Amino acid sequence: MNYQWYPGHMTKAKRMMQENIKLIDLIIELVDARIPLSSRNPDIDELGKNKTRILLLNKADMADPVYNSQWIRYFENRGMYVLEVNSRAGTGVKNIQGLVREACREKIERDKKRGIVNRPVRAMVAGIPNVGKSTFINTFAGKACTKTGNKPGVTKGKQWIRLNKNLELLDTPGILWPKFEDQEVGRRLAFIGSMNDEILLKGELACDLIKVLRQLYPDALSSRYDIELRGEEPEILKEIARSRKCYSKGESLDMEKASAILLEDFRSGRLGRITLEQPDEGCED
Ligand code: G4P
Repeated sequence: MNYQWYPGHMTKAKRMMQENIKLIDLIIELVDARIPLSSRNPDIDELGKNKTRILLLNKADMADPVYNSQWIRYFENRGMYVLEVNSRAGTGVKNIQGLVREACREKIERDKKRGIVNRPVRAMVAGIPNVGKSTFINTFAGKACTKTGNKPGVTKGKQWIRLNKNLELLDTPGILWPKFEDQEVGRRLAFIGSMNDEILLKGELACDLIKVLRQLYPDALSSRYDIELRGEEPEILKEIARSRKCYSKGESLDMEKASAILLEDFRSGRLGRITLEQPDEGCED
């Protein structure tokens, strides 16, 4: 299966972001803590190359805590302001205002010297689809001001949100980029649900996920489904189907259903706290 998804509304959204970048002091980029590298959009990186950057490791509650700390160090060493957050529960979100002030201290000082007081910091909130941007904005802004949903690409159009007199946020639609140089990146994005599921072959994706998990977190599979990890991945998927009693007509196994269950269990954190990407040893400085 070839992993790629770049519908027209993403091209439009990217253009909107490019047009607005001059109004922005700061980019708040959300990544998924389970795949902090693959969930970074190189186009957003390029867009923000001359801007102050805050990186939020969102869904940190579903990622391995050991790696969360390593990833924070990794990105801080690369000049970013970094926080781990759980936007759904609000954990870590209250620290963001302080971090914004710290990140924009120079701008605020500069404004003060020029006699400009009370000009709010303007931040663009950006990230890939389904990374939790709407949930984050709702939690951060303290009210249901954006629509959230479980389908990638729900947030559309341009939206400014005034948090208080010091901070304004520009919400942007979740975007991917035109070509994944490394198909592994596309596969991981599909695992976490950032690609349109309708274009994916669920059975193949589920087998790919089994392959990765049996290497990195074998207990997650065996204990969740009470199975032994023997044989090739399709065999293991059959075991999952049996364990979850996924049968279609008669006695035949419903592999489509078993695949959906596995993917949903992973995406919702029911397989435990899992991080699929670890910083290279050389990067842990
Ligand atoms: P988006 O705007 O970036 O597309 O993402 P959105 O906020 O719609 O979030 C996508 C899914 O991720 C939602 O789940 C949301 O609750 C969940 N989510 C967002 N941030 C976090 C987090 O930090 N931790 C966890 N565990 N989940 C998070 P859903 O099941 O699709 O919807 P719902 O049932 O929660 O409404």
